[in-house]
Amino acid sequence: MTAAADQDRRKREAARRALELVRPGMKLGLGTGTTARHFVDLVGEQVKGGLQVVCVGTSKATEEQAKALGIPLSTLDDLSDLDLTVDGADEVDPQLRLIKGGGGALLREKIVAAASKRMAVIVDSTKLVRVLGAFPLPIEVVPFGLAATRRHIERALAGLGLAGSIRLRGGSGPFITDGGHYILDCSLGAIDQPERLGESLSMIPGVVEHGLFVGLARTAIIAGAEGVQVLGDPD
Ligand code: A5P
Repeated sequence: MTAAADQDRRKREAARRALELVRPGMKLGLGTGTTARHFVDLVGEQVKGGLQVVCVGTSKATEEQAKALGIPLSTLDDLSDLDLTVDGADEVDPQLRLIKGGGGALLREKIVAAASKRMAVIVDSTKLVRVLGAFPLPIEVVPFGLAATRRHIERALAGLGLAGSIRLRGGSGPFITDGGHYILDCSLGAIDQPERLGESLSMIPGVVEHGLFVGLARTAIIAGAEGVQVLGDPD
């Protein structure tokens, strides 16, 4: 088995363990990315088998996948809150702080996670880190005034003793999020104070959301070579 296939198998194992948290009648948030995709697949299988749940997707891609699988979809406007959201992450630290947004869905992901009684994150063990920051931190910004917003971000980073390159995500043109915004990826190396950084970034005009998820995940399901490990609340 190739390393990529092995990693994908672990992502599915984590997703399968997360299915144990699902109860009939639940209102579920469905995450985005290659790991969450496995979870959505498994929920689809259960729905075909008769499980009754109603779901909210964290991206257009997830909504399309869920619709194709026959999973009943609703919105946060129609459901007051969700029972459980299961989503992937780019990094998880031992305190269940996360970096998310590698797939560009961080804004909806954070809104859905914050509207949920519980967020469980599913990852393969390569995502578990001692300190967040090796993965570039995604920051979703409004296209208007991009250069000004970027300068404010640089100042906020410098104020916390952080340095590193800031790159506008995209190829021949900028990547556009589901919300119509851009993403700046900040390569910081190590983020010692994610709470403080998150607060500073949130105060900058033009920053819509950042990929630091602090105080949101209650459970992390981590699949590695030795099996599945659960951090936080297991059930
Ligand atoms: C999507 O915007 C992200 O937050 C993903 O949840 C995260 O990037 C993890 O994705 P993978 O499961 O594809 O690694």
